[in-house]
Amino acid sequence: MRRFLLLPLLMAVSSFVLAQNAGSTPAVITIPVVVHVLYNNAQQNISDAQIRSQLDVLNKDYSGTNADRSQTPAYFANLAADCGFQFKLASQDPDGLATNGIVRKYTSIQYFSNDDRAKSATNGGDAAWNRDQYLNIWVCNLTGGLLGYTSAVGCAAEKDGVVISYTAFGTMGTATAPFNGGRTATHEIGHWLNLRHLWGDTYCGDDGVDDTPQQRASNRGTPTGERFTCGNTAHGDMYMNFMDLTDDASMHLFTLGQRQRMRALFASGGARQALLSTPALQQPSALVKAIPSVAETTLPSSFMVVYPNPASETIVVDINTKEAVSGKLVIFNAAGQPVLSQQFNSNHAVVSISQLPAGIYYLRQGNTGSFVKFMKR
Ligand code: ARG
Ligand code: ZN
Ligand code: CA
Repeated sequence: MRRFLLLPLLMAVSSFVLAQNAGSTPAVITIPVVVHVLYNNAQQNISDAQIRSQLDVLNKDYSGTNADRSQTPAYFANLAADCGFQFKLASQDPDGLATNGIVRKYTSIQYFSNDDRAKSATNGGDAAWNRDQYLNIWVCNLTGGLLGYTSAVGCAAEKDGVVISYTAFGTMGTATAPFNGGRTATHEIGHWLNLRHLWGDTYCGDDGVDDTPQQRASNRGTPTGERFTCGNTAHGDMYMNFMDLTDDASMHLFTLGQRQRMRALFASGGARQALLSTPALQQPSALVKAIPSVAETTLPSSFMVVYPNPASETIVVDINTKEAVSGKLVIFNAAGQPVLSQQFNSNHAVVSISQLPAGIYYLRQGNTGSFVKFMKR
């Protein structure tokens, strides 16, 4: 009897010790996400359901539970990893207010590119939330067939995150074949987690990962069989890896080596370690909170005009002062809970209220001061 018990017991003890030695990195790292939807027309203002369909793909791909993993050829199957990441839309915004993790913003920009305007409010985009607390994803109309792009690890904080075309985000709505499998975000977040393209971006280059075979360049489309390109690998290119450029339906794994490289960012001193202690996924207090670091003057409600009223999609807020004022608007529901906050500039704001349930709301400028009542229908 003892002999049967001893081996599992030893294994349990040693894996416990291993987990302890691995330091504070949790087995599953949960990344809070904010999605900034930048839309120039109604179609680009993708639905919550489409956004959730993207989160579902990420959660499968980064835990190795995606159904198409069964397609991994036998000779690569032992390298495929459960990377131990999960992604959740934030429930608390940088001010500690409730959020659904989705920011919707009308933009006059018709086409974005990889020039980072998407990340700048003064250039028609929306500013990043603190990268130590959130993964920022901007979804917008990218021009020139670009599906997505990602900042380099260690870039300036306000540029940190991934930008993805609304035609390649999620698996429904505006997502368009052959890039409607949600793999653009899987790929770009791989970069955000420090992965390189398999070919190291040079001819038979190095991606810094030992268990991904060398390959000459990117693969596209839907390759089949073994594809030898550098002449030094047993089974050719791993074109089904998320860090190649094949179609969504043709990519389905990260390797154990890639897992290790991504998770190293969360070890002590790693570039993304701070995310392990983010408050972004905690439930915000239901009470009205003072909002820190807002330095604007507080105006009586008679200086604020809100129209149309009632409104269903957006309200326009004009603040009638001689001098230009900028600051923060906060919308409270009838129970006095803050439900939305938005920056305004030069006495003017257009606030999307499409996500709010119908009812009576109160709008306040700044931390204190009077409320303006409006109705959402
Ligand atoms: N940055 C790459 C591009 O824009 C992303 C490719 C993602 N590949 C995919 N099958 N979704 O081309
Ligand atoms: Zn890439
Ligand atoms: Ca390699």
